[in-house]
Amino acid sequence: MNPTINPKRLLNTINTLGKIGKNGPGTTRLALTDTDKQARDQLTEWLEQASLDIKIDNIGNIYGTRRGTTNEPPIVLGSHIDTVKNAGIYDGALGVLAALETINTLNDQNTETETSITVAAFTNEEGARFQPDMMGSMVHTNALPVETAWNAKDDTGTTVKQELQRIGYLGNDTIKAGHYIELHVEQGPILDTKNIQIGIVEGIQGMAWWDATYTGEPNHAGTTPLTHRKDTLLAAAETCIKIRETAENITGSVATMGRLHNKPDIRNVIPGHTFFTIDYRQYQPDLYEQGQRIVADQIKETAEKHGLEYTLKQTVDAKPVRFNPEMVDLIETKTKQLGYTHTRIHSGAGHDAQFLTHTCPTAMIFVPSINGKSHSPQEKTHDQDLVNGANLLYHTALELANPHR
Ligand code: HGY
Ligand code: MN
Ligand code: MN
Repeated sequence: MNPTINPKRLLNTINTLGKIGKNGPGTTRLALTDTDKQARDQLTEWLEQASLDIKIDNIGNIYGTRRGTTNEPPIVLGSHIDTVKNAGIYDGALGVLAALETINTLNDQNTETETSITVAAFTNEEGARFQPDMMGSMVHTNALPVETAWNAKDDTGTTVKQELQRIGYLGNDTIKAGHYIELHVEQGPILDTKNIQIGIVEGIQGMAWWDATYTGEPNHAGTTPLTHRKDTLLAAAETCIKIRETAENITGSVATMGRLHNKPDIRNVIPGHTFFTIDYRQYQPDLYEQGQRIVADQIKETAEKHGLEYTLKQTVDAKPVRFNPEMVDLIETKTKQLGYTHTRIHSGAGHDAQFLTHTCPTAMIFVPSINGKSHSPQEKTHDQDLVNGANLLYHTALELANPHR
C-alpha cells in the first residue's frame, strides 16, 4: 500500500536538518549551542510555513499546533533536535519531522480533525552538555523544577538559562498534552537483525547517571613504591570493572563508564585526581533499584579500599516505565492495518516519552537502525523504514484525533 504521507518531503526535511551541525561524518548539535539555535530556527520556519500556532515554554521547548474543531488538549507528536557529539541525523529529528510531515499531509488534504495536533521539540533530551538529560520533557511534566533546570551548568560554568536567553528561546507559554506519541529509530539491533519493519514499544528501561571524583596523591611514578600510592586512576579502573560485573550479574542490566578525566594527566606522575561518570540501566523496576544501590556502593567501597577521598552525585534517576496499554494496542492495530511486519519491544535508550507517560496516555513507535548503530556517525535507517514509521504515526494520530468518527 502506498504511504499517505509525502516521502520526498519527509526525507528532504530530515536531510536538511541533518546538515545543520555537520562536521565531517557526524553531526553535533549540543543543546542550546549555536548549531541547536540554527536547527530551532529552521524548525520554526517550517512550523510557520505549515500555518501552526507556535509556542515556546520556559525551558525552550518548541510547540506548533494545528487547531482542531474541539477544545480537547492536543495530541502531541514529537521528540528532540539536539544531538550528542558526532551523532547521526535521525536520533530525535525523525520524531519531530515525522510529526511535521503528519501535519503537512493533513494540510495538503484540507482535513479537519476534532482534536488539535501539536508538533513538539523538547529541549536537551541528550544530556550531553547539561544534565539531567530529557530536561525539556521533565520540566514540561513537572518532574523537574524549572529553576533547577535553568541553573544546570555545562563544563565551562555556563547555565541553561544564560544559553536560552542568548539563543532567544526562553519563552513563557504553556501547553498541556492530551496524548503523546514519539516515533524514534530503535538505536539497537533487534528490528534490523530480525528484519522487522516496526517496533511497538511497550516501555523504557530505567536510567541512572552519576558524576564521581576520587582524590588521592599525585607523586613520582619512578620513586613511589606500589605500597605507598594513592592512585585514583587505578581505583577508577577497578570501579569500571566492578560495575561491568554487576551488570553481568543482574540479568538485563548495562553499565558504562563514559567519561574519565585524570589529573595531573602526566605520564610520570601517579594520578591524584580522577573524575568519571557512570550510566546504569535496567528494565525491571526492582532490579533497577537493586542495581543502582550496588553500583553506588561499589563506587564508595573502591574509594575506601584505596584510601581515597570521594564525591558522588547522582544526576539522573529516570525510573523504568510501561506505556499506556490502550495506546500500545492502538499502534499495533494500525500497524496491522497498514501491513507492516512488527514486534513488541522495549527501549534501551531514554526518551521524552519516559516523562510524558506520567501525565498523559503515551506510546512510542520504533523503526530499525542498521546494525543497531546510534550515538555515532554510522547511525543509519533505510529511507523506506523512515517513511513507514512516519506513515504509521500519521494514521495513528488521525484516528486518535477523531474520536467520534
Ligand atoms: O538514552 C540516552 O542516553 C539519551 O539521553 N536519550
Ligand atoms: Mn533520541
Ligand atoms: Mn540520543
